[in-house]
Amino acid sequence: TSSQVETDVLIVGSGPAGASAALALSTLGIDNIMITKYRWTANTPRAHITNQRAMEIFRDLGIEEQVLADATPHHLVGDTVFCTSIAGEEIGRIHTWGTRPDREADYRLASPCLTVDIPQTYLEPILVKNATVRGTRTRFSTEYLSHTQDDTGVTVRVRDRLTGQEYDIRAKYLIGADGARSKVAADIGLPYEGAMDIAGSMNITFKADIEPYVGHRPSVLYWVIQPGANVGGIGAGLVRMVRPWNEWLIVWGYDIHGEPPVVDEAEAVRIVRQLLGMPDLEVEITGTSLWGNNEMYATHLQNGRVFCAGDAIHRHPPSNGLGSNTSVQDSYNLAWKLAAVLRGQAGPSLLETYSAERAPVAERIVTRANRSSREFADIFAALGVLDAEDEAEMQARIEERKANTPEGAAKRAALVKAMETKNYEFNAHGVELGQFYESGAIVSDGTRPPAGKDEDLYYVMSTSPGAHLPHAWVGDHVTKLALMDLAPYTRWTLITGIAGEEWAGAADKVAQELGIPLETVVIGPGRDVTDLYYDWAKLREVEESGAILVRPDKHIAWRSMSLAEDPVGALRSALTTILGRD
Ligand code: FDA
Repeated sequence: TSSQVETDVLIVGSGPAGASAALALSTLGIDNIMITKYRWTANTPRAHITNQRAMEIFRDLGIEEQVLADATPHHLVGDTVFCTSIAGEEIGRIHTWGTRPDREADYRLASPCLTVDIPQTYLEPILVKNATVRGTRTRFSTEYLSHTQDDTGVTVRVRDRLTGQEYDIRAKYLIGADGARSKVAADIGLPYEGAMDIAGSMNITFKADIEPYVGHRPSVLYWVIQPGANVGGIGAGLVRMVRPWNEWLIVWGYDIHGEPPVVDEAEAVRIVRQLLGMPDLEVEITGTSLWGNNEMYATHLQNGRVFCAGDAIHRHPPSNGLGSNTSVQDSYNLAWKLAAVLRGQAGPSLLETYSAERAPVAERIVTRANRSSREFADIFAALGVLDAEDEAEMQARIEERKANTPEGAAKRAALVKAMETKNYEFNAHGVELGQFYESGAIVSDGTRPPAGKDEDLYYVMSTSPGAHLPHAWVGDHVTKLALMDLAPYTRWTLITGIAGEEWAGAADKVAQELGIPLETVVIGPGRDVTDLYYDWAKLREVEESGAILVRPDKHIAWRSMSLAEDPVGALRSALTTILGRD
């Protein structure tokens, strides 16, 4: 008797992927419904490292200030410690997340935003709130059951978990952002590489003020090397800051091939005291859970009108802190494409570029995260503790690095090398930012960004089509903006210089012809903004008269090295190709 619920996009899941999709779609004015199984958002801190690209997305979507207000700031995140326990011996430290002065320069030059720490319990409510305020119809306690699709849309069966009542929602598109055990992905038969549950981990959240042990070496991560620390888990025992310095999360491994451990209150307290090296510490345990480490990614992300995003398509350990970040970025890539197709600005072929662009990212991050987790073995090997039989033997071997003997010297040298390797987990700027797209939504000019010293560690800015818009500060005598601020998510942006002013008229004409939002930004003295530090002139790679076409998601779709003979024709040809309109 009731009429059918209808929407343009139905999103399953309110985690980082789903809530970002809802926020992005609502920001673009696209009608959407977000359903999620539970009565509220994440109930444990989970992902927390929030990298520059994710922060840029939050900046673009107008929630950067809200995220920063709830985050642990950049200057407190990066003195990562390796130790035998928090109160015990320190084996070494590494500046992480771009906090070492030389790397901090790389990070600051690459983005207006810096890496911060915000646990999922704080981030998700911000995403969900803003999405809902902007128009998302959010339904908690609502479970996805199944779907069928036809030429015009998807009919999705859902269950209201309060009443048990089942009903259908009819949507033009469906996004499965339903996490690592995605039912949507299973229902559309996405193809995967890799395996699930390759190692076991337990999380223990607790409250205890340990400021005296950490305040002078502030970090979000303290790695503990103790007997058992390399069994299962994520490479070593982890004491992770949730709130400085009195809320914490321990990740400790277990053998996934044996019986799952029973982690009751007493066992949780024991593990906390053991990793902290504080046998009498008063601890309040706030939660425990077991989880499996995965090494699996989807090689295709779409089936007809159904797309998957987030952990549904990449499943990996938290190493490198990529889970939530990549999930947010998936949705940011997908949402503007859905909006363009729904508005008739692009043909459906644009939607296929989501898979072409994001599946390689999924493979790259899953591979990197698992490698980083395994590379902890280098530290255990350097200390010579891999085959230590018991705690006493382990301690003796760790002690040996102090000896004025050839063995001690060899151990110290091996440690220098093993610590260096951890930059691939903690300062992998190339992995974090260096996503280069090749797809039908990019008109390649045959170039790629120049190779850096190491493509995982270093990010090289470029305007090569497929690369992300480089960062430069622009503005005038009262305003300082990031270049990305002039290329907002709600439109296409053409960037040129004074000698390329003719592009502006061409862009207006093409925008009108194709019915798309496209604005030109002329950078130069007396124009929209000036190149405040003369950095853009060195970064743009094109001549002053050239033009760079920036997509809503800040990737460069096309460029012209100089003013074209027929600017209208050149721009029209690029855009019709990208939008699948030819
Ligand atoms: P996510 O799993 O966050 O969200 C899935 C959503 O789908 C939820 O809202 C859920 O309610 C909903 N859902 C599922 N099935 C549904 C259905 N049938 N119907 C309706 N809704 C449904 N990462 C990291 O970097 N560091 C870390 O320390 C941790 N720790 C950690 C601990 C635990 C216990 C977990 C489960 C995960 C982590 N992670 C992590 C991983 C990190 O949390 C993960 O990468 C992101 O949350 C992925 O975001 P998604 O939005 O893709 O999925």
